Amino acid sequence: MNAAADLATAPYEAPAGLAGVSVARTEVSDVLGRLGFYHYRGYNAVDIARRGRVEDAWYLLMRGELPTAEQREEFARDIAALRELPAGVAELLPAIARLSPPGSLASLRTAVSATAQAMGCQPWTDQSDAETAQQAIRLSAIMPVLAAQLFRLASGQDVVQPRADLGYSDNYLYMITGTVPDERSRYAVERYLMLTIDHGFNNSTFTSRVIASSGADLGAVVSGALGALSGPFHGGAPARVFDMLDAIGAPDNAEPWLRKAIERGDKLMGFGHRIYKTVDPRSQLLHEVARELRSQRVEFAELVEQTAVRLLAELKPGRELYANVEFYAGVVLEAAGLPREMFTATFACSRIIGWMANVLEQIDDNRIFRPLAHYDGPAAPREFPACWQPGQP
Ligand SMILES: CC(C)(COP(=O)(O)OP(=O)(O)OC[C@H]1O[C@@H](n2cnc3c(N)ncnc32)[C@H](O)[C@@H]1OP(=O)(O)O)[C@@H](O)C(=O)NCCC(=O)NCCS
Repeated sequence: MNAAADLATAPYEAPAGLAGVSVARTEVSDVLGRLGFYHYRGYNAVDIARRGRVEDAWYLLMRGELPTAEQREEFARDIAALRELPAGVAELLPAIARLSPPGSLASLRTAVSATAQAMGCQPWTDQSDAETAQQAIRLSAIMPVLAAQLFRLASGQDVVQPRADLGYSDNYLYMITGTVPDERSRYAVERYLMLTIDHGFNNSTFTSRVIASSGADLGAVVSGALGALSGPFHGGAPARVFDMLDAIGAPDNAEPWLRKAIERGDKLMGFGHRIYKTVDPRSQLLHEVARELRSQRVEFAELVEQTAVRLLAELKPGRELYANVEFYAGVVLEAAGLPREMFTATFACSRIIGWMANVLEQIDDNRIFRPLAHYDGPAAPREFPACWQPGQP
């Protein structure tokens, strides 16, 4: 056997991180990085976030069009009714919550996996498409309930049951804080949720489609996507932005702290993006919202942003690094009453909607993802070493 003989079929070698490679077709959303623009099914996503409700964007992603007022009301009623946990899950949550600190995505993915089991999710190949679509909406409706209840249990508080009479964002804040939020807080959190529902082929969306492409059930899809989202290069960034602001501490320390971090080779949390090579439009709207909320942190965050962008241009010329969605996300969420530990879990609650729209699209025209890797190890086939004493087969 001669491995070199296989060179006739030598594959195309994609760049690291699949940068610039298109790996699927989608009608869900797209990001035009040089223009600083992204859209949901063709509609400017920032405009939807400015003017609409979570239910509008959710309906658009799942049903293909923006709803009429009547359709929105009916959809909002339908999803509010789906907030109830399936039998057997509430009893598991205290034990799951004890395993990790409040806000843990590890706890959330364990709970989602259990929920999908309790809902009877099967490999989508073994159930009807209608059942899969219904489970996709139900899991998206339940995710905020799991996130909020796990948070309260892990922080030693009683759970707050969801209220079907509250809209998505009011109910989310209510389940976490125990109080129906004021209009400003609801408005702020809702902008964040709508801005982050979907964003092209980001890491966790890609993950969700890869898992779905094997025919796996939606519990497997969502727990895998949550794993991808939890990483600091993806959804794990916003709390780390706060850690960075805390570590900088005072305005005078911004320049020396950031310079040292960049020179050391650290990635500044909340800066840079694979696709945006200009200002991230999500960051712009969140910055506006943070100013409207008169967050105590906003002026300091602005100073850090300006200093970081200037230093990144000086020390990393040509890389075009600007604040991304995560930079002002924490400022907005904190000012709206959400604890820092819940930033990434909140992101998960909105992004699951994008994952589900993508997965349904994948299922509609599926081919299993099965790429290649360039083998770079010792030449094959190798001689077995004389010292190897195989056991009995
Ligand atoms: C988002 C991110 C993962 C994109 O990664 P990517 O497209 O693979 O970009 P790269 O890591 O190849 O970065 C390209 C160059 O810019 C630099 N760079 C990218 N983001 C940086 C950051 N936040 N701080 C400092 N330098 C950064 C890299 O060091 C690299 O420099 P080099 O050419 O000297 O090696 C990356 O920018 C990052 O880790 N940002 C911080 C985490 C974050 O905010 N994540 C949330 C994303 S919405």
